[in-house]
Amino acid sequence: MYAQMVKSTGQGVKPREDMSPEERHFQDRVDANEKIEPKDWMPDGYRKTLIRQIAQHAHSEVVGQLPEGNWITRAPTLERKAILLAKVQDEAGHGLYLYCAAETLGISRDELTEKLLDGSMKYSSIFNYPTLTWADIGAVGWLVDGAAIMNQVPLQRTSYGPYSRAMIRICKEESFHQRQGFDIMMKMAQGTEAQRRMAQDALNRFWYPSLMMFGPSDKDSVHSAQSMAWKIKINTNDELRQKFVDQTVPQAHYLGLTVPDDDLRFNDETGHWDFSEPDWSEFYEVLKGNGPCNEERMAARRKAWDDGAWVREGLMAHAGKRSHRTAAE
Ligand code: 3HC
Repeated sequence: MYAQMVKSTGQGVKPREDMSPEERHFQDRVDANEKIEPKDWMPDGYRKTLIRQIAQHAHSEVVGQLPEGNWITRAPTLERKAILLAKVQDEAGHGLYLYCAAETLGISRDELTEKLLDGSMKYSSIFNYPTLTWADIGAVGWLVDGAAIMNQVPLQRTSYGPYSRAMIRICKEESFHQRQGFDIMMKMAQGTEAQRRMAQDALNRFWYPSLMMFGPSDKDSVHSAQSMAWKIKINTNDELRQKFVDQTVPQAHYLGLTVPDDDLRFNDETGHWDFSEPDWSEFYEVLKGNGPCNEERMAARRKAWDDGAWVREGLMAHAGKRSHRTAAE
């Protein structure tokens, strides 16, 4: 099974015969679908990969508030505003659960934030694109949260207990996010001609960036093979991308919108939609910091971190006083 995965996902997995007895026992537990808990022995690579993936996910939830927060004061009705506020607050909560899950692996939330701010940790490429119109908020909910769910539902079965439990709660909320986005798109698509054009324009701009969320194609994915052997990831990037396209194209048709891909065809033989790959050079440019909003997003996060310094200092001073008091008692 591993040989097959290595072939389909690029980089290799440590062969069983090269594993130490601890590594072999660990792999057996993972293969038996046992959950790995924080105090259990785990290979260094497993710990590092989890910290990288969970923290990148946490950062994505937090940075992901920015393109939507941008529309809270401009939502078209009081009801839409209340829904968007709740959604953005949910994303902050998801960030918190995930930072807590990462902390169980022996790294602090402050360290993770510093790594985001110094550029040594990533967040999802999608949040480096701007939300220019209200229809973009619909497209973000429908496509971006839709892609997030496609990736995250299988992660509920991931091998690391705290991550798996965080994902169960997150997925429930993401489903509501996707539905509210689709509902906005439906209103826009069935509205005036100008509104329909806005909905189509939002789909045109968010389609390929949403496909990029699943990561590079399997042949270029660096981590998939080992992450799948450890059940940190359950599916390959391409498998999830295909599932997303298969689910989303009929929804676009239902909305009366056109997916911006001239080569999109239903393949009767495979039972799947054939589609054009995103422009991977654009993806790697966004990862390097050259997307339309990278600078703006990082500047906002740095400002939030600097503005919050007095709160952190106050809490630390309070914690210091309490521990002095406890020591004296
Ligand atoms: N954006 C930014 N970086 C990405 C990326 C993306 N869309 N896709 C891949 N990468 C990076 C990887 O992190 C890796 O870089 P690194 O070695 O410096 O960390 C490199 O590209 C190679 O990619 P791989 O396929 O080898 O990486 P992974 O095995 O980690 O797979 C992943 C990438 C599928 C995104 C995986 O990490 C994953 O499933 N993560 C958990 C889910 C997640 O992070 N979701 C964020 C979505 S946004 C969100 O949930 C917010 C919600 O409110 C919408």
